[in-house]
Amino acid sequence: TTLDVSTMVDPDGGLVDRGIFTEEAVYKQEMKRIFARSWLFLAHEDQFKRPGDFFQTFMGEDPILVSMNRKKEIKAFLNSCRHRGARVCRADFGTTKNFTCTYHGWSFDLDGNLANVPNEYAYGEGFDKKDWGLVEVPNVQSYKGLIFGNWDPNAIPLEDALGDLRWYLDAFIDRDPEGTTVVGGVMKWVLDGNWKLAAEQFATDWYHVNMSHASALMVMSPTGRGPKKEIAERPGKQFVSPNGHGAGFPVHERNRFDNSVVHDYYDYDALRERLGDKRVTGPMTNGHATVFPSFSYLPVNGSIRVWHPKGPNKMEVWAWTVLDKSMPEEVREAQRLHNLRTFGPSGIFEQDDGENWSECQAIAGGFITNRVALNYQMGIGTEKEDPDYPGTTSELFSDAAGRSFYRKWRELMSTPAWHEKEGN
Ligand code: FES
Repeated sequence: TTLDVSTMVDPDGGLVDRGIFTEEAVYKQEMKRIFARSWLFLAHEDQFKRPGDFFQTFMGEDPILVSMNRKKEIKAFLNSCRHRGARVCRADFGTTKNFTCTYHGWSFDLDGNLANVPNEYAYGEGFDKKDWGLVEVPNVQSYKGLIFGNWDPNAIPLEDALGDLRWYLDAFIDRDPEGTTVVGGVMKWVLDGNWKLAAEQFATDWYHVNMSHASALMVMSPTGRGPKKEIAERPGKQFVSPNGHGAGFPVHERNRFDNSVVHDYYDYDALRERLGDKRVTGPMTNGHATVFPSFSYLPVNGSIRVWHPKGPNKMEVWAWTVLDKSMPEEVREAQRLHNLRTFGPSGIFEQDDGENWSECQAIAGGFITNRVALNYQMGIGTEKEDPDYPGTTSELFSDAAGRSFYRKWRELMSTPAWHEKEGN
């Protein structure tokens, strides 16, 4: 059975029904029609250096094993044994020669082939190990170090799916000709709240910064009072992607890294040459972005994160610190700590956000509450082609990318996915 969600969101009028955050049936349909056919972030290339290096993650709620084979190719498999379905790898990450299931001992090589079956003779003649390899994710592609996977056999290439967002994303991951590296481990924490609350905020919502993060901004201000007026009134832009992505950033001639060690490290003239003025004064430092549906990043902190769905009311946040490869050790460490203090699980900004999402979620299930639509009308009609920035933009304080996020969401939720078609 398929749910008709077309009346639950109205992207043109800027209205969203809270049922999309609370209904089990909506959530199940998201797994089927959004997560089973979108490009989902898996890992950073830097996590795989030699054959056998692996990392465990999720696509939707499906457990995924990402690993490097002997040819140094990155592959992704469903982490579930074809025998009785146990996981064939239980470690979060590591290096291995093969994946051996701990239930009955079937073992799989780094290409997912079933290589060894204890007491194989007992299966008789009709059994062929070739038929029982791990299920492989058919599309695994990288964009400048970021590895994404997609279950849809007919998925459009990752670069096309990212579209114009690449110009904005490059201001973060292409500052350094050497590319980026992962510093420290992957931080993971659980939040009460639907995954979309986080994803849409990172796509579209700079508006909350002045209120939600007021005290954090005061702490970070040299005067202790916070650069309130400057932040509250600073102009900026929002990128609005037809594929549901969004990015927002203040525009400021002196846009700079908050962390003074990082600020002093950069040669801003060289950055202007590499990225152009518009990116250095815009999306390079402050800002936020989401790659539809569930990958987000913050250039100023070097934080990239996935909002893993765990039921309609819960998400698990996985966050990496990603920095320029050429950064000297002490600069990396300063930025890692800065990211931890601001957007780590106990970071002063992160806690404000998590608190808001849990607050909105906690009451959204009330019968009457659930019937009252939410407002995404800021900046309706401001979307336009902008000569200075690729794609469509709106103003910094706008819900435009949120409306576009839900337009894409409604489109996918309303059209059958590859696995619903005959022959799949
Ligand atoms: Fe994996 Fe039996 S469940 S070997």
